[in-house]
Amino acid sequence: SRPSALQNQSILITAGPTREPIDAVRFIANRSSGRMGFAIAAAAATAGSQVTLIAGPSALPTPPGVTRIDVETALEMHAATLTRAAEADIFVAAAAVADYRVAEPATNKVKKTDAPSSLPLTANPDIVRDVAAMPDGPFTLGFAAETDDLLEHARGKLAAKGLDMIAANQVGDGLGFDVDENRLEVLWTGGGATLGPMPKRRLAAALIELLGEHWHAAR
Ligand code: PMT
Repeated sequence: SRPSALQNQSILITAGPTREPIDAVRFIANRSSGRMGFAIAAAAATAGSQVTLIAGPSALPTPPGVTRIDVETALEMHAATLTRAAEADIFVAAAAVADYRVAEPATNKVKKTDAPSSLPLTANPDIVRDVAAMPDGPFTLGFAAETDDLLEHARGKLAAKGLDMIAANQVGDGLGFDVDENRLEVLWTGGGATLGPMPKRRLAAALIELLGEHWHAAR
């Protein structure tokens, strides 16, 4: 087989959910298992890339040959990513990052009798948007997880976040999050391709192949 375009390239990948603390023992999170991002990390390592995986809380094992950095919150994922992004050739944002965090998490366990009737939130930084805005930054592949108007919202995120490519997946109703199979509509300026539905392992290999072609063409 011919050598991968990504051989010896450095790839930074985010995966999994983030946890946003409410108090010492409670948090807000989402249904991401990390499967999609870990599968991309495994596929990139198989293609001969130097892979760094920044993982939110996930029970999955680290794929062979991958350097893993565990984080919990969106702020931690943002800091871990931004300190490494300048050295990366490619950034893949597969994590389901919380858009908001609890404005003032309690340091103790809040008593049932002291529970507030509402929980003020504050916006988290947008990791992939900040990486895409870096001068001489890496080639960026973002994701879009949508329950409605998949392609329209994905095109909007491709433009608004300044990405090179975006992989859109339909979610909700047992799709996308925390399941083995997935289907991706991959979009870039002037084109697109459908990958799957198939198991995330194979889907990740196909995505890495497509990413390699576009990254190579963009150089
Ligand atoms: O982990 P699995 O169970 O295998 O599920 C896979 C998945 C459904 C989580 C994955 O395929 C996926 O779609 N990941 C992105 C989920 C998401 O949060 O998408 P979004 O449309 O809300 O965000 C758009 C893009 O911005 C994403 O690349 C996201 O990583 C990025 N983002 C979002 C918010 C933020 N604060 N920082 C970001 O970088």
